[in-house]
Amino acid sequence: MPSSAPAANPGYPRLQILFHWLSVLLMAALALAGGLRHLLAGHAVADMRSVMIVHIGCGMALLFLTLLRAATRLAGPALPPLAGSSRAQRACAHAAHLAIYGLILASCLLGWIIVNAKGLAIPMPLLGFDFPRLVAADPALVAATVGLHEWLGWIFYGLLAVHIAAAVWHHVALKDDTLRRMSWRRPTPAAAPAAADCHRCSPDTLAQNEELTSADRLAS
Ligand code: HEM
Ligand code: HEM
Repeated sequence: MPSSAPAANPGYPRLQILFHWLSVLLMAALALAGGLRHLLAGHAVADMRSVMIVHIGCGMALLFLTLLRAATRLAGPALPPLAGSSRAQRACAHAAHLAIYGLILASCLLGWIIVNAKGLAIPMPLLGFDFPRLVAADPALVAATVGLHEWLGWIFYGLLAVHIAAAVWHHVALKDDTLRRMSWRRPTPAAAPAAADCHRCSPDTLAQNEELTSADRLAS
């Protein structure tokens, strides 16, 4: 069947794509800094303060980017489901995405509480103000929340590993448009019919058309 239909799987809006890949960069820096702190703990080889500044700075940026991302996502039209995906697949993807949003918010808010409970404020560089303190200094609260923040973090990294593996599996094994919908380049439009499959476009017909007058063509 000849097809000039638009792509069956329109991609995410460009703004959402930008937010997604910015989140990936922030998340990578945050995790690397958290991991470095873990590895270097007890070895006086690095300035832990700088490592924590990267972890906390990227975490705060991720928190506000995620709030903005969720707000613009909810305000925009819903993305049509990927053609050919089952109801169960869509439910799984939906649950995983909701869990990612939830874990970012929970981890970042807990981190913010830990810093404040340690008696410190979180400064906003360049703009010169401190983020409001969510709690007063409280060593007992620090002790109660540090372990939870760390465990939530490891659970989150695990979920992200599954998320990334799923994206690669869709792209490489299922060869569908899942990853392309989140790429700057739009999903490829539904393939045009091969010339040999289309009697109007076959080389023979084109050659015959060359010999027709305009009136003949209109009548054909
Ligand atoms: C998605 C966001 C975040 C994740 C996944 C995450 C994950 C983690 C993990 C796994 C650790 C333990 C690493 C280690 O043992 O050294 C950690 C430590 C820490 N994080 Fe986060 N974090 C996030 C955001 C934040 C934010 C936004 C803040 C502060 C505003 C923060 C503050 C801290 C602090 C202060 C520690 C050290 C706690 C201590 O042992 O005293 N984190 N984070
Ligand atoms: C290389 C790493 C990553 C790849 C290849 C990737 C790929 C994708 C793809 C293809 C989608 C669209 C899925 C669909 O339409 O069903 C998606 C959605 C999503 N990704 Fe990732 N992702 C990566 C890392 C991350 C990270 C690190 C985060 C979190 C910080 C994240 C958060 C999300 C969220 C929240 C969605 C749902 C978007 C929405 O519908 O609002 N991704 N990702």
